[in-house]
Amino acid sequence: MCGIFGYIGTENAVKTCIEGLKQLAYRGYDSSGIAGIRKGQLVSIKAEGKIVNLEKKIQLKDLELAPIIGHTRWATHGIASENNAHPHIDSKETLAVVHNGIIDNFDSLRTFLKQKNISFRSETDTEVISQLIAYHYEGNLTVALNKTLSLLKGSFAIAIIHKDFPNQIIAASRESPLAIGYNHTKKERLISSDPNAFLGRNLNVFYLRNDEIAVINRQKIEVLDAHLSPIIKKTEKFNSTLTFPTKEGYEHFMLKEIFEQPNTIQKAMLGHYSENFGTAIFDNLNFSNQELMATRHILIIACGTSWHAGSIGASMLEDMARISTQAEIASELRFKNPIISDNTLVIAISQSGETADTIAAVREAKAKGAKILGIVNAQNTTLTRESDSCLFLKAGPEISVCSTKAFTSQITVLALFALYMARLRHMSKEDGKAFLDELKKIPDVVTEVLQRHEQIQSLAKKYSTFHDFFFLGRRYMHTTSLEAALKLKEISYLNANGYPAGEIKHGPIALISPKLPVIAFCANHQTYDKILGNLMEVKSRGAPILAFAPYGAHEVQEIADDVFWLPPTIDELATYPSSIAAQLLAYYIAKEKGTEIDQPRNLAKSVTVQ
Ligand code: M6R
Repeated sequence: MCGIFGYIGTENAVKTCIEGLKQLAYRGYDSSGIAGIRKGQLVSIKAEGKIVNLEKKIQLKDLELAPIIGHTRWATHGIASENNAHPHIDSKETLAVVHNGIIDNFDSLRTFLKQKNISFRSETDTEVISQLIAYHYEGNLTVALNKTLSLLKGSFAIAIIHKDFPNQIIAASRESPLAIGYNHTKKERLISSDPNAFLGRNLNVFYLRNDEIAVINRQKIEVLDAHLSPIIKKTEKFNSTLTFPTKEGYEHFMLKEIFEQPNTIQKAMLGHYSENFGTAIFDNLNFSNQELMATRHILIIACGTSWHAGSIGASMLEDMARISTQAEIASELRFKNPIISDNTLVIAISQSGETADTIAAVREAKAKGAKILGIVNAQNTTLTRESDSCLFLKAGPEISVCSTKAFTSQITVLALFALYMARLRHMSKEDGKAFLDELKKIPDVVTEVLQRHEQIQSLAKKYSTFHDFFFLGRRYMHTTSLEAALKLKEISYLNANGYPAGEIKHGPIALISPKLPVIAFCANHQTYDKILGNLMEVKSRGAPILAFAPYGAHEVQEIADDVFWLPPTIDELATYPSSIAAQLLAYYIAKEKGTEIDQPRNLAKSVTVQ
């Protein structure tokens, strides 16, 4: 996890580095720090908490540092403190290291170094890197780094400055993205864990991998392989006109992103369907129809909210295209020795395109010969580079850690893909058109829910007094309930359990009491009668019930304490109105609780450790 930024150039390096780190705060915000060289000495400033704390510290000093490296941290080894914040400096105070990733064998390396009387200041795995480089250093930094890399187990992207080389940053990477950008005319060089942090610049960009080392200074950039032989890297033009999004008057990015959804769902659909043929269109799909028609099994891999979208997509693919489809949690799949045959298609879903578990599962599937279809929001990411073909959400940057608009865009792309696969097989043009008609209504369906946000706000006031919740649903509403529960726990820190409604009688019903409300998702028509029975079971044990039910489902009103009425749609698409209502419920409960909604504690937008 964590974000790395580095700069050599003519701008105010401290300011540029802080701006870069702000773009990377989605990778963690437990602490941040910078280091540079000034008058031959290493200078480092670090602060616990968000980057704004670092900024405040820097403002107290009139600081000019060049070159500079910076870091924003998500704590793995050691608590979120200033002491554990990066950059990490060796005990002789000769060099500073920023690191993204995890050193698996840090403990044995630390023991080795301690035996050499080297003392440590932090609890981090990263400090092992700085101490090891210093230990191996005999005047040639590249050689010292290379020796160090050969001892490290794990994944990393690192950037280093050394006081003997005041004009240079040296960087290396293994299984963790590290982009290097340069503009020879402007004589600027940038390093980042994510090229999207190079906002508003025209650069040539390349990526380090497989223990490659880059030696970067004003005059040139030299790249060496693991044997220290020079190599030529293929570069891409990176031309970013993007600027960092603002809240546009909303109190939080999360609320803004919730309200963007009629638009983002529309964008995910735009140009991707044909009304005449009742099917989807994917111009950039690098798989032939023959390959897709030969598919007998689909394996979807993802984490968190993306996995919930994947599970809904799996149901649509089975229901509509009748292809056996399994949605697997990436961190589990990669240790399962997945069965991948010639006619298995693997779909990897990720908003950020950088989730380490998803990438690792993709690599495992590729090693078994699988073709990968990525469904991604952020462009220029590891997943987009490693997929054989990519479908983009085009939802725009999602800043709130709590994912909302990416989820509904993922469902949209998956719905279109399921339609495409179904039409390639047995689905008639008429049925395809009927499905498209329902899908096209979704932006209006979502708008209608959003217009009634005040009603959800008052329900949130009432339910925010509880500490524990059950979120129940069946079929499409089961996964919807999992996603809704994740939203609530993530931003309000309340205990919310998503569960298949039919399953609670097999144990969890023991928890039911008047102190534990049930949030019931009743919009799946096929299982409507069944969920009524489940609600009766919890009602008779005293649970307060808040139901999300389609207009006309009056039986629910007889049972539930509160009902929020949803505009109708078909089962396959019922997640949209229910999820929007649940996102608003979570948001307003979190607001009642006064939590940090956009950047909840302990989390990061992109989880780049396994
Ligand atoms: O970027 P990804 O879609 O790969 O991220 C996966 C999860 O980390 C993410 O969806 C997470 O669960 C969200 N914070 C949930 O709101």
